[in-house]
Amino acid sequence: MATNRTFTMIKPDGVENGHIGGILNMITEAGFRIVSMKLTQLTVADAQKFYEVHAARPFYGELVEFMSRGPIVAAILEKENAIEDFRTLIGATNPAEAAEGTIRKKYAKSIGENAVHGSDSDENAAIEGAFHFAGREQF
Ligand code: CMP
Repeated sequence: MATNRTFTMIKPDGVENGHIGGILNMITEAGFRIVSMKLTQLTVADAQKFYEVHAARPFYGELVEFMSRGPIVAAILEKENAIEDFRTLIGATNPAEAAEGTIRKKYAKSIGENAVHGSDSDENAAIEGAFHFAGREQF
């Protein structure tokens, strides 16, 4: 059953380049409600676990190093049809292919450093959200 929730991270490049405010503005303007939010940092072990599904890919090492190199903004978001609508809002993984009006079109620089994460399923949104936020931090 759809939870109407997704999990997002503003990745280290988005934070380093000063885009927290701009990205959050696009998210709230698109009608997402913020359920939980914090500035935090993934350890190397956290990033390895989070991207375990990509462990066999040639870019895995680079991805883990990138995702653990600085602070991120982690958040749980709520909206009807959240998973699909949020993936539409962030745009294609490769910003060169991202549609006009998407977060990655505006703020991402490369396929590796693409500014923002969005969960790919209700199940993963629940797992990813629970990794960062206790029940009492979900409003
Ligand atoms: P995302 O889709 O959020 O989660 C998987 C990440 O792997 C993806 O964003 C990119 O940051 C990264 N990634 C995917 N494909 C490549 C690639 N070809 N080269 C480098 N990084 C990649």
